[in-house]
Amino acid sequence: MMLEIKNVSKSFGGLKVLENLSLTVEEGLVSSLIGPNGAGKTTLFNVITGVIPADSGEVLFLGENITRMPVHKICRLGMARTYQRRNLFPNLTVYENVIAGTFKDTTSLKTREGQVEEILDLLELTDKADAIVSRLPPLDMKLVELGRSLATSPKLILLDELIGGLLSSETEKICDIVETLQREGYTIFQIGHEMRPIMRTSDHICVLDRGRLIARGSPDEIRSNEVVLDVYLEAGGDE
Ligand SMILES: Nc1ncnc2c1ncn2[C@@H]1O[C@H](COP(=O)(O)OP(=O)(O)O)[C@@H](O)[C@H]1O
Ligand SMILES: [Mg+2]
Repeated sequence: MMLEIKNVSKSFGGLKVLENLSLTVEEGLVSSLIGPNGAGKTTLFNVITGVIPADSGEVLFLGENITRMPVHKICRLGMARTYQRRNLFPNLTVYENVIAGTFKDTTSLKTREGQVEEILDLLELTDKADAIVSRLPPLDMKLVELGRSLATSPKLILLDELIGGLLSSETEKICDIVETLQREGYTIFQIGHEMRPIMRTSDHICVLDRGRLIARGSPDEIRSNEVVLDVYLEAGGDE
């Protein structure tokens, strides 16, 4: 197992956002977390990555208990993420944003230039390396954030709605990249709410509703799951 979530609960004041949640993410797979807006998906990613503490429960990463570990230590163990609300250095270039990811264990720019070039190449950002990030279109901003997370040399990458909010040709491009990353050996755990790209890229899907896991299984199993369909119809899901 790459990641094990055991009985995690989290409330904000009186609002229970995660309720005794348990799930696992298997090494080498693309696993997805779906569910209506406000279900607690981003909160779960924040708990996993150490951004906010869980009230109770445990998170194990590669067998190690990381529940109360600070973000930078979790990153050094090999976990990276992208944010639903973009979290880039807006006034720096594409190249500078990506190389910032390598600073988790070095402050030398020289040693990591080759690694950054490979990442820009993979993401087809090479000819935009010197562009200022705040002037990029949304797709490229998402790719830069992915690039920065790849620059930390992760084993597990958490993608918070990297798929989503884009034109369909752009979504296809993100799906292609997710598939490439899987082939290169990364384990992916992604949040999404557009069904088609999630179904296309996922090996395994977990469905969250009001802080509880209501279903998990293969894309085919989820597609035909009555409980999931009910939740999506109730929430006015788009697909
Ligand atoms: N830091 C916070 N303080 C208070 N409430 C929060 C905070 N973060 C999230 N919430 C609330 O928790 C619920 C789940 O949010 P979130 O995890 O962002 O949902 P999702 O990503 O599934 O759309 C929402 O009702 C949201 O308003
Ligand atoms: Mg969210």
